[in-house]
Amino acid sequence: MSILNALLQRNSHSKLVDPGPDRHQLEQIVAGGLRAPDHGRLRPWHFVAIEGDRRAALGGIFEQALLLTHPEATEAERQKAQAAPLRAPLVIAGLVRPVEHPKVPRVEQVAAVACALYGMSLGAESLGFGTMWRTGRYAQDALVVAELGARPGDEIVGFLYVGTRQGEAKPLPEIQIGAHLDFY
Ligand SMILES: Cc1cc2nc3c(=O)[nH]c(=O)nc-3n(C[C@H](O)[C@H](O)[C@H](O)COP(=O)(O)O)c2cc1C
Repeated sequence: MSILNALLQRNSHSKLVDPGPDRHQLEQIVAGGLRAPDHGRLRPWHFVAIEGDRRAALGGIFEQALLLTHPEATEAERQKAQAAPLRAPLVIAGLVRPVEHPKVPRVEQVAAVACALYGMSLGAESLGFGTMWRTGRYAQDALVVAELGARPGDEIVGFLYVGTRQGEAKPLPEIQIGAHLDFY
């Protein structure tokens, strides 16, 4: 498939099951993402792969984070938090790890991380997997960020869920060029 076709066909898929990428495929996916455009090649990022039993461990941290901010959380809410990372066999957390630079502001560094995650989603799709980019309340949570090895100033830009698609694909939306593109 041409790159343009891959871009036009990309579609998030929320129901992702086993098998996920094996180690070689994971490394290929991440390597593709690491070729993202990155002003100054600062490499302002940190990626963490969460697979297997570690997903439940992260779910336990989500639950703790929930209880710290919402001690009144119901059993159903606790279970939802605990199960969140189990929604795919592989979750890749992408964090911005900002670098002080006179010409590259933080926003550009966040953009580089987003490009890398998007690249990983396209790479995973090219290997036949489905993906879904998620954030939600836990992406902003200090306990979760620290658990993923963050240093001061790091922030989660996204969790990329990766696995084998289950069920029908969502219909692709119509692309309305005119609504988004002007000519100067
Ligand atoms: C930064 C970012 C954060 C997102 N967070 C969520 C999220 O927490 N939950 C969700 O359902 N979709 C989230 N999305 C959107 C989905 O990944 C997806 O793009 C959306 O459902 C539209 O589907 P499509 O990508 O197939 O067009 C996020 C996307 C981005 C770029």
